[in-house]
Amino acid sequence: MNGNIRPDSMARITNLSLANEFIDEQVKLVRQQVGDKKVLLALSGGVDSSVVAALLIKAIGKQLVCVHVNHGLMRKGESENVIEVFEKGLNANLIYVDATDRFLDKLAGVDAPESKRKIIGGEFIRVFEEEARKLDDITFLAQGTIYPDILESIKQAEGKKAVKSHHNVGGLPEDLQFQLVEPIKLLFKDEVRVVGEALGLPHAMVYRQPFPGPGLGVRCLGAITRDRLHALREADAILREEFEINGLSTKVWQYFVIIPDIKSVGVKDESRYEGWPAIIRAVNTTDAMSATIEEIPYAILHKITNRITSEVEGINRVLYDLTPKPTGTIEWE
Ligand code: XMP
Repeated sequence: MNGNIRPDSMARITNLSLANEFIDEQVKLVRQQVGDKKVLLALSGGVDSSVVAALLIKAIGKQLVCVHVNHGLMRKGESENVIEVFEKGLNANLIYVDATDRFLDKLAGVDAPESKRKIIGGEFIRVFEEEARKLDDITFLAQGTIYPDILESIKQAEGKKAVKSHHNVGGLPEDLQFQLVEPIKLLFKDEVRVVGEALGLPHAMVYRQPFPGPGLGVRCLGAITRDRLHALREADAILREEFEINGLSTKVWQYFVIIPDIKSVGVKDESRYEGWPAIIRAVNTTDAMSATIEEIPYAILHKITNRITSEVEGINRVLYDLTPKPTGTIEWE
């Protein structure tokens, strides 16, 4: 347990030189721990797993086997980006699993948010486990655990109640029997980002906004259908593009689109057009426990509305969610 407590003497990593010291030290420790054995890592493309991957590639190269499971609920271009950065850029030993059909088939007709979360989390572990079993010479499992995860599990052990079941990779079956490699487990998020930059990861990956484990699955409300999921992915890509063009991507903590399972009557090309509404959410927060709403200039909201309603098949309205947390949570499910 002691190794899970950050010592008071540990300096906060605030610049590249401190990050490089940390990296050198971890490279040595990982090499000592792992020797010539192989390490498996679930690489989601999120900040934490990406930084662990880059750190371990530096330490042990191809002894690290990364598995990227595309559950079909990623944002536009994200899986492609993981392949681009890690396989092409860092020459990683990367196994890419496109499990889209498997996830969407399992989720068909399921509309309760907690059931969706449980299916996505459970299926994720099963796919990852299947891949792990195909590789018979793996001794270690690397994880992107960071210090707030440890603090959170201490809180949970003390009996505090969670609002929703957050899904991350973890909780793998005991019979897989790996030893853990958790090189960033004593770092806070801002430190992880500095380490990521020192490792040469792209800025957009290191400063990527938080994205829930169940991905677009909890933003395509109710029972997920492929056509509505497609509309959501396209509308979300437009929102992200416009936030970047207009300098909002560095100002707003998290921004995304939600599509509920309802249609309303609209008009397009002088005919009746029944479509879904796209709901925009843009929030600021420091710890995600509470959140405020960003004031987006009307001109930008108009442009996003025009683009989404004209470019995305199936959407005929755009709404802006003005609800802080509480009473809303940041995600809708
Ligand atoms: P809520 O909706 O609870 O979200 O206000 C707070 C923050 O957590 C993110 N979130 C998740 N992150 N796995 C994650 O890793 C999850 O299952 C999950 N659910 C929500 C959410 O995007 C927000 O940043």
